[in-house]
Amino acid sequence: MAVYQHDVLVVGAGLAGMRATLAAQEAGADVAMITKVHPVRSHSNAAQGGINAALESRGDNWDDHAYNTVKGSDYLGDQDAIEIMCQEAGPAVVELEHMGVVFNRDENGRLGTRHFGGQEVARTFFVADITGQALLHALYEQIMKYNPRVYEEWFVTSLVIEDGKCCGVVALELMTGQIHLIKAKAVILATGGTGRCFEPSTNGLVVTADGQGLAYQVGVPLMDMEMVQYHPTTLKGNGVLMTEGARGEGGYLLNSEGERFMKTYAPNMMELASRDVVSRSEQTEINEGRGIDGCVLLDLRHLGRELIETKLAYINEVAMDFANVNLAEEPCPIRPGNHYEMGGIKTDVHGVTSMPGLYAAGECANVSVHGGNRLGANSLLDTVVFGKRAGIHAADYSRQIEQINVPDSIVSLDEGRIKSFFDKKDNTDTPATIRLAMGQAMNEGVAVFRDEAGMQAAYKTILELKDRYKRLGVHDSGKIFNTNLLFAFELGFMLDTAETICVSALARKESRGAHYRTDMPDRDDENWMKHILVQNTGEDLPTVDFSPVTVTRWEPQIRSY
Ligand code: FUM
Repeated sequence: MAVYQHDVLVVGAGLAGMRATLAAQEAGADVAMITKVHPVRSHSNAAQGGINAALESRGDNWDDHAYNTVKGSDYLGDQDAIEIMCQEAGPAVVELEHMGVVFNRDENGRLGTRHFGGQEVARTFFVADITGQALLHALYEQIMKYNPRVYEEWFVTSLVIEDGKCCGVVALELMTGQIHLIKAKAVILATGGTGRCFEPSTNGLVVTADGQGLAYQVGVPLMDMEMVQYHPTTLKGNGVLMTEGARGEGGYLLNSEGERFMKTYAPNMMELASRDVVSRSEQTEINEGRGIDGCVLLDLRHLGRELIETKLAYINEVAMDFANVNLAEEPCPIRPGNHYEMGGIKTDVHGVTSMPGLYAAGECANVSVHGGNRLGANSLLDTVVFGKRAGIHAADYSRQIEQINVPDSIVSLDEGRIKSFFDKKDNTDTPATIRLAMGQAMNEGVAVFRDEAGMQAAYKTILELKDRYKRLGVHDSGKIFNTNLLFAFELGFMLDTAETICVSALARKESRGAHYRTDMPDRDDENWMKHILVQNTGEDLPTVDFSPVTVTRWEPQIRSY
């Protein structure tokens, strides 16, 4: 059996994973990346609108960015972590520019900005509407200079824990169907969000909560999982993202009466209120009969063809291909759709989790910079700031410890799981049917508006599906690129994660940020300004615990836009 061993192993090759890899490489560690898709096909590739930073040279101020982020989070974000993110944002963007990201420029040739939601000024740096793709390619180039080992199209099935420490992973090599042990002194989870626990979602089909599921399996707490963001502008039908940059450039939202309805809900910020507020406003218009076919309209006609074809070219193509709408000529039907998980694996500001040797960064982590609602374009920022910090810390940690010896035979557990999937061929259930039922139940019960009965119904469905999952078989027992087997593993992670979302949502007895309960519509700072932690302790159901929110400077206030 081949022996694979590294100082630092990064699971996932999106922006957080790549930034962590680069930082650990620069710190002198032997770093490898493991990714179930080719690195530049990671879902960060689909990030559109931009990355936030308050640059002092432009008269902006990181304090203001931090305050906007705290208010956006509905006071659930940890303010010490938010301060770090906003302070490090400017240098992070300049660093990316120096790596070769060709950001849009303004008329004076300086880095250009657009105005994103929930912020008082335009501080979103962007590359047309393909910012994630531009960042991902620049980072990949930097990483490849070090010629790292990339386990490409390998899928992590389990974390290896010995002596209470994480010391590697077990992984399925998709090309051969072989199971391998990869030893590492430190493992960084950077696997992205939970998007495909919901149906539809703006997230790529590969976004299957793998990191959250892996961490949960070994008893690491997930925090604030009830905070699921519905993006206000997702395309009718397939739910593809139509960037907030469209409203940032001046786009309007209209109801069936042709009114800019945001004047009722957010008279100051209008279409650029925070995402939770805009999504609820749209859903209210739709529910009260002022929608069109379950949608409202995104109107960009007044921006003119030239702006649309340069700064918003990608969404123009998407609207044309999937909705037959030319954005320069017609408004486009959109609606709120699942987009982002604010919650995740609890970490400190260095990506450190409760399990020694295990780190997390990016959307799968919760450093607590987004709280109850993330501001648009703070996610790319989170990935690069906290990806870098996790990489540096993990490299340092790996210098201080010896690799724990792990017997090769550890792979037999996951080989056994594969055999058990193959042995249950007679069961006619498929990963696809369970996955669809899960996504629909979550989109029904744990969406923009929630109540006790709806959340209980979703949770009941998830428990039934978990039961069906125990009997799930994989009908095709081929070794080479067995995607059914991959889907079966992914589904296990998604079901566990969907359960943590339901349990956390049921636990929070108030409305805050994206968690809006029609049966408890008020925010309750006295009792609920706290984080919810769910953990697998080996019992049938997750345990629920709480931890305080860190407040440095900004006491909670009434939140209006
Ligand atoms: O709308 C967007 O371009 C999405 C950006 C984000 O989620 O940060």
